[in-house]
Order: sequence, then structure tokens, then C-alpha cells
Amino acid sequence: MEKNPKERIKYLTEKLHHYNHLYYVEHKSEISDFEFDQLLKELQELEEKYPKYASESSPTKRVGGDITKKFETVRHEYPMLSLSNSYSQDEIKEWEQRVKKSVPGKIKYVCELKYDGVAIGIRYENGILQKAVTRGDGTQGEDVTTNVKTIRSIPLQLKGKYPPSFEIRGEIFFPLKNFQALNELREEEGEPLFANPRNTASGTLKLQDSRIVSSRSLDCYLYGLYGDDLPFEGHYESVLEAKKWGFKVPSSQEKYIATTDSIEGIMKFINYWDKKRASLPFEIDGIVIKVDDYGQQQDLGFTAKSPRWAIAYKFKAERVISRLLSIDYQVGRTGAVTPVANLSPVSLGGTIVKRASLHNADQIAKLSLHENDTVFVEKGGEIIPKIVGVEQKDRAADSIAVKFIENCPVCGTKLIRYDGEAQHFCPNTTGCAPQITGRIIHFISRKAMNIDGLGSETVELLFKKQLIHSYADLYELEFNQLLQLERFAEKSVNNLIESVKNSKNVPFERVLFALGIRHVGETVAKKIARVMKNIDTISEATFDELVDIDEVGEKIALSIQSFFQDDKNKEIVQKLKSHQLRLEVEEKSMASSLLQGKSFVVSGVFEKFSRNELKQLIEANGGKNVGSISGKTNYVLAGDNMGPAKLEKAQKLNIPIITEVEFAKMIEYDSN
Ligand code: IVH
Repeated sequence: MEKNPKERIKYLTEKLHHYNHLYYVEHKSEISDFEFDQLLKELQELEEKYPKYASESSPTKRVGGDITKKFETVRHEYPMLSLSNSYSQDEIKEWEQRVKKSVPGKIKYVCELKYDGVAIGIRYENGILQKAVTRGDGTQGEDVTTNVKTIRSIPLQLKGKYPPSFEIRGEIFFPLKNFQALNELREEEGEPLFANPRNTASGTLKLQDSRIVSSRSLDCYLYGLYGDDLPFEGHYESVLEAKKWGFKVPSSQEKYIATTDSIEGIMKFINYWDKKRASLPFEIDGIVIKVDDYGQQQDLGFTAKSPRWAIAYKFKAERVISRLLSIDYQVGRTGAVTPVANLSPVSLGGTIVKRASLHNADQIAKLSLHENDTVFVEKGGEIIPKIVGVEQKDRAADSIAVKFIENCPVCGTKLIRYDGEAQHFCPNTTGCAPQITGRIIHFISRKAMNIDGLGSETVELLFKKQLIHSYADLYELEFNQLLQLERFAEKSVNNLIESVKNSKNVPFERVLFALGIRHVGETVAKKIARVMKNIDTISEATFDELVDIDEVGEKIALSIQSFFQDDKNKEIVQKLKSHQLRLEVEEKSMASSLLQGKSFVVSGVFEKFSRNELKQLIEANGGKNVGSISGKTNYVLAGDNMGPAKLEKAQKLNIPIITEVEFAKMIEYDSN
């Protein structure tokens, strides 16, 4: 097979592009996920071995891994304008009248959804994706190519008969299902939730690590072609053609796009989606109507900011009236207190709303909310409806302003509010029930200790019956104790006990994550475990030693220190130790002989690893660190600001200069 790696790489590249398109654009599949992954893995390995055959548009780019240190500013060849907005159907009618007056002849309109995401302009040369640039200020934007390449529905290589050079524009968005899944994961990890899909899509595109972008599963609909001498008469035709080249464009079957020659047709489209938009798998904030014919578009021209040949009809956020019945204060596992309004039930966007988020004390003050107020509720960009205003004239003269609670609603401890944070916290971390059960639920979760057979309700029950006081007590549960509980039969008790026992094999980095130290998510736990090696070193680490670790900032360092200073936590960790959980890394699994006999010079400043970490990794994998470059040096591992003399010497001696990402690949290091 490897007799001709170039041919094999070409074959795999084409196959994978084809399967990818089929799956992400046409929603069909010809092979299983497993088979796809096998082919991708083979391609990855071949590209690593024969980097000269690896192309910038390889399907392996989808997985991410490349880091963008700085997003370069790029000038748009065609300015990226916005659309003029209208909020009433009358304004659309007026626009249509103006269009009719300005251009002679029959007019065809194209109606499209107005996707609520981030605008992107993507340049293709000879069928290959060259550059993807954000809108920015309309004149210049940021080069986010590496991240855009991870979006599966955007082709890296086109098929069919496409123009040699053009730009295509569209909207990158966060599909609702993926957005919810991301937030569920964050909740499990005790990370703050993202407020809405649009801002999260925008933030994701600007992440430096394309691997995270890849994992977020963004999507994109393309809606416009730009180029000199495009071979089409009008917009609709260009969309249909772009589909043939492999782009994901709106489909007329799904009614995401339609053509019409009348204002009635336009209104029908608007009214259809005004009702149906809640059922879409992504968010839209309106409808866009465009004059189809390029010639007519040209005649209509532009104002300073927007084309005259298009207009956006923006949906009004549906707003309903309800009454504030009471406010609940929920305490999360980190102690954060969130006020939630109980409302008299009201129908909104197809669902019955009984509760609305109030976020924090500032929000209550901003609304100047009073008990029993008549309130306006909207389903905005956020998933949970929110109170957007108060009907002042319905308020009784003697009504009482809502006052944020001062003590924890569960344990009574006085709440605190840290400087610069909007939320109140209950500081009784180790004595407040929802914080304790929340931590236990986090501890057993899939990405942490993965203990099956125990849901959140059972955890609460075990806690209530005083069978467990912390997650360490899970290891002391006995068969007979559990059998007495209503929820358990012999089989489920055995399963649970087995699952608890198995969790003792979970590697240290996951145990560290499972402890539920505030701000220590999965990735940070991994990094800390790799550097500090065991729990004792972490618990005794100074502030400086902690912030020295990649991705650990002041906030995380302080949180780690305060966790290990707490006597109750110390006791819990001792218990975990006595039950023989893995509280240190297994050195064996890190080491290899992949670099046997190879010598390295490490030079410059790095992003993902510290210089010391790199040196340790070289040795752990059988390589040798040398101080200066000579003819015997095998590789120069270069970061930023490597000295020019070193660079020149390496080039002169023809010694390969590799980046930390390439190095990580070399030692098969999963930097996630
Ligand atoms: S056409 C000259 N079509 O809305 C502008 N834009 O305010 C041509 N958008 O930044 C844009 N869906 O990101 C067009 N089907 C659609 C759209 C759409 C969303 C966004 C676009 C633009 C903003 C305009």
C-alpha cells in the first residue's frame, strides 16, 4: 500500500471529501463512522510520514490541531455590507414598490432565511479553499481560515465545474442541538453556561485552538457569490450552481429559500416562517428578500451601508404578559445562587412558560422588580425565557420591591459576592446540601469517575438518608444498606458496587477533574496532572508553581489552594487515598521509545507547553536534549522568538525545524 504513498494520499483525500460531503451536506452515509475514522487515521499517518504530500485542503484539517496565534487582518475585496432592516410588513411593501418603480420589467424575488450567526467570506482559487475572513468592520476582517476548515459542511475542495476564482459568503451558526449539548457538558463540568448560540459561534471562531473549534460542530449556510465575470444571470441560479460544487445552500424543498414575483408571495414566505421558526434546528432572526437578476441589482445599486436590491424583515421577539408569583433561589454545585422567577403560566413560542431566569441581583435591580408585578416575558437569543420589563401602571402603590436574599436559602449561611462578579455565592461549600450533592453528581459523571447505576435523585436520597456525606463515602457503601432503599434490587445494588469498584482504575487526571475544584475543568485537570504528577504535590504547590502550568491562571490557582486548605476536603482526599483511587499519574503510560536516538535543540517561547515540559517529554520518549545545534542534531524544536543565529545555523545544516504541534504529533501526544 505504501509503495505509492502519494497515490494513496490522493485516493484517501478524495474518498474522505466525498463521504464528508455526503454526510454533512446531503445527510446521507455510505460507510460507517468506524470505517470513516479508519480511513482518516490512515491518511493522518501517511501525511505525518510524508509531509510533502500533505495538502492544505486535506480532510485531516477538519480535526483541527493547528493553532492560530494571531488572527491577521485582511481587507475585503468586495466590502461586506449589511442589510437594511424593517420590522413591519408595510415597510416591505414600500420597499417592493420602490424596487418596481426603479427598474423596468418583470422582477423575480428570492426569499431566504436570515440566519442568526456570524458572517463569513470564503475565497476559493481553482476549487481550493484559500481564505476565510470574518466581516469585521465591513472593510476588513480577521483571517479565521484554520478554524473555518474544521466546519464539515464547508468544502475544502470543490467538485464539478466551478469558476476559477470567486468568493462565497454565508453565515456560520451553532446548530441548536449542538449548542444545548455543549451547555450540558459545561454544566457537568461546573463551567459557566454560554448565553446564546450566536455569541458562542462568534467566540468559537476566534478560538486559537482549532481542535476545540472542530469539537463544537459549527455549521454554515452559504448565501451569495462574488467575483468578476461570474457566469450567471442571477442570484438564485448562483445558489443552485454552488450546490453542485459541494456547498451547503438553503433548499427549496425545506422551504428555506423560495422565488416569487409578487408581494403576496413575499408575505406568504414571511408569515410561514414567523409561525414555523421555532421548529428550525438553528436560529433565525428574520427573512431576507433579494432581487434576483444581477442586472437589476446593478441598476438598483447601493446606499452607503446596504444594497437597495435587498431588505431584511426582522421578526419581533414574541413578548407576552404574565405575573410574578414568587422567586426561587437555586444553589448550584459551586455555590452560585441564581434567582428564578415563578410566573403565572403563559404560552410563548409554542411552549407553556412558568419560569423565567432573572440571572442575578443586578438584573433584579435593573428591572426594579416588585412583588406581584405584571411582567413582560420574551424568548430572546437565550434558551430560557426572560423578563424584559415591568408594567408600571399595574403596580399597587404599596407594593414591595424585591430584595435579593442575604442568606443561603438552603443552609442559612450569609451569602457573599466577590469583587467583579455578578453572582452571589454561598460560601458553605462543604456543609450546604445542594453543593454537596451537586459535587457528588459531578464526581460520578461520565467524564469524571463514570459510576453508573446512580442518578441525581438516588444521590439525593443517599445523602438524605445520611448514607453518604461526600463522594468519598461512595466507596464505603455496603450491600445491605443499599438493598434497603426503595430504588434498589439485588441486581442494581451489585451493579452499583461493581461500578464504584471499577472507578478505582480511573486515571489520575480524571480523578482530579472529579474532585470538582472550582474552575478546574477537564482540560485544566489534564494539564495539572501531567505537570504535578500526584495529588500531594498539587495540594502543597505554591501559587507561583501553579500559575506556571499552562492554562492555569490566578483564578484557578487560588481556587486550587483554597480547596486543599479546607479541612473537610483534606479529610475527603485522605479517604480517597485509603480506598486506593489513582492519585498519581502512571509514568509508564507517558513514556515511549518513539524518539530513541534522536537529539533535539529546544529554542524559543511556546504556547502549549513550557520549555521544561518539552525537555521532559523528549527524555520521557527516549530522546536527548542538547544545548546547541551541530551537524548531529536531528531536530530543532522552535517556538516564537528563536534567535536568528540559531535559525540560520539550523537552515545551513539542513536540520528540520519543527513546531510544538508537530512535536506533539511525533510523540503521539494528545494535547487535548
Ligand atoms: S445577504 C449586502 N442573506 O445578515 C449584504 N445576509 O445585516 C448581503 N445574513 O451580515 C447579505 N442571513 O451575515 C444575506 N440569507 C442571508 C442572510 C444574511 C443572514 C446576515 C449577514 C449580514 C447580515 C446583514
